[in-house]
Amino acid sequence: MSEAAGPIRTSRAAPGRPLVIVAGVAMALIALQFVLAGYGIFERQFHKADDGWFEPHQAVGYLTILSLIAVLVVSLVTRQGRDTIVRAVVLVVLGILQPLLAGLGADTNPWYGVLHAAVAVAIAGLDGSLIGRGARASAQP
Ligand code: HEM
Repeated sequence: MSEAAGPIRTSRAAPGRPLVIVAGVAMALIALQFVLAGYGIFERQFHKADDGWFEPHQAVGYLTILSLIAVLVVSLVTRQGRDTIVRAVVLVVLGILQPLLAGLGADTNPWYGVLHAAVAVAIAGLDGSLIGRGARASAQP
């Protein structure tokens, strides 16, 4: 009797590449948000009027939030570990907070706007940690 079958692969590591791709796209949008916010703020200062220069930041902002939701969906579908899922859930919660904080910052107290910017930094850090996790998972044999 011969052993024709090769070695059985028993690796159950979750695939990391889809997470790297979707979290990478989210990171590109987050970076764009910083650029568009800076541009909008200085344009507004320069023209001393609200002539629509913040609209790109608003539009890409909602797209960025959708990309964060996509990060969570991909984390769930590719059956990432519990810690990765928790981070992705926190990412979505922080993303959903962003328009609320921006609105409060514009209409009530500017410190909400400061929080909006600080939360953007936290979102970038968390998303970066997910890119790292995905990259490590995809590097595993
Ligand atoms: C993850 C990154 C970010 C996301 C997802 C995001 C998202 C958003 C969204 C969706 C809005 C529109 C809210 C509305 O409908 O009224 C907004 C507004 C705003 N964002 Fe961001 N933002 C981000 C980063 C930043 C940063 C880094 C700054 C810089 C300080 C900033 C400054 C502002 C300001 C000043 C507004 C209010 C604009 C206005 O007066 O209508 N954002 N943001």
